[in-house]
Amino acid sequence: MVAARGPAPTAPIRIVAPGREWGVEPVELLVERGVEKVPSTYRRVSVEEEEELMALNDNSIAAAAEVEEEDRIGSGMDIPLIDLKEWDESHREEIVSKVREACEEWGFFRIVNHGVDVHLMQRMMQVAKEFIGLPIEEKAAYVGRPGMISQGYGSKYTIGAEDAVRDWRDYLFLWLQPEEVRDYAYWPSKPEAFRETMDQYSREVQELARKVLGLMSEGLGQRTGLLEEAIGEPPYQKVLINYYPACPQPQVVDGFHQHSDIGALTMVLQEDEAPVGLQVRYDNHWVPARPLPASFVVNVADQVEILTNGRYKSIEHRVVPNRHRSRLSIPVFYDAAPDVMISPVKELAQIPIYKQVKFDDHEHAFYEYGANGKNMVQSYILSNHPLAQPLSAS
Ligand code: OGA
Ligand code: NI
Repeated sequence: MVAARGPAPTAPIRIVAPGREWGVEPVELLVERGVEKVPSTYRRVSVEEEEELMALNDNSIAAAAEVEEEDRIGSGMDIPLIDLKEWDESHREEIVSKVREACEEWGFFRIVNHGVDVHLMQRMMQVAKEFIGLPIEEKAAYVGRPGMISQGYGSKYTIGAEDAVRDWRDYLFLWLQPEEVRDYAYWPSKPEAFRETMDQYSREVQELARKVLGLMSEGLGQRTGLLEEAIGEPPYQKVLINYYPACPQPQVVDGFHQHSDIGALTMVLQEDEAPVGLQVRYDNHWVPARPLPASFVVNVADQVEILTNGRYKSIEHRVVPNRHRSRLSIPVFYDAAPDVMISPVKELAQIPIYKQVKFDDHEHAFYEYGANGKNMVQSYILSNHPLAQPLSAS
């Protein structure tokens, strides 16, 4: 049986599962309806700007798009790679210094031979793919409640800013740790292996996150537990299954608008065979975090930037969609509990740069206003700190 879908392209569609409705309809539905032009609510580049770009490129949309796509995929640079294979006492120092360099210079790196079972990573990606591949009517049963930060399936990340430009992205968002915060109503029952796989994945990735935080702390010349303790017990863990459908005009939208992550540490699993999507800001370039089998992309997030008084950087990144194929990624976030106060750790901050912020307030601000570069972290810079003011020429 084939379900009839979206008859009139302009009619707002609200699929209602029992008690649920879309806050914003999934991008997947637009794609299924075969839109050739991105609706204006998703456009980051105006029609005028696009026309200018076309004029520069032979007046051909295809040529402009190709140039832009190449530009967006970036240069030959790549983020650092750290191999934990030989992580034993004799190599510890070397690995710690690589981690330190990566966190200071890039805020991003990739790890291989990290100890998480590679088959488990593959199973996780597989069940995520199967869930995303379900008919939209089935996924509708997991739609998060509109108008609040909510676990579940959806396409809208912000609760404020109704007119904010939308990202070309659908997602499933779940809170994983501590276990009391899980809301199983949003955990897919299909595919059958989803729940058990997610549960096991959650535990192994959390273990790795702790190890990495330990290496990061040692990189600061501090005891292994410093960052983990500053983030506090119990740490929270959340996961996104991000789905970026193929896009007819990838040059005018973002899959995920540029942002830094709000938590402490993020570990991203990417689909091996997908095109480049994730890009990292380095100087003024967007450097691609290319997929690499059995690896995680690890990034420093805002809390660690604040705790380390800016020594480790929570770097902006974004996701660009692809014209021809969709992409799946699974970031797992290691966060503080909502009531934890984050401020520069004494040992690392003779002169603190940032004021104290409650994680819950930071998280709410993100969901209220949406991803927007590093605005939020910048707003925490203490007003009497030199970074807060332009240096006066003398
Ligand atoms: C995020 C993010 C990257 C990706 O979810 O915060 O940056 O590749 N995701 O989906
Ligand atoms: Ni991110």
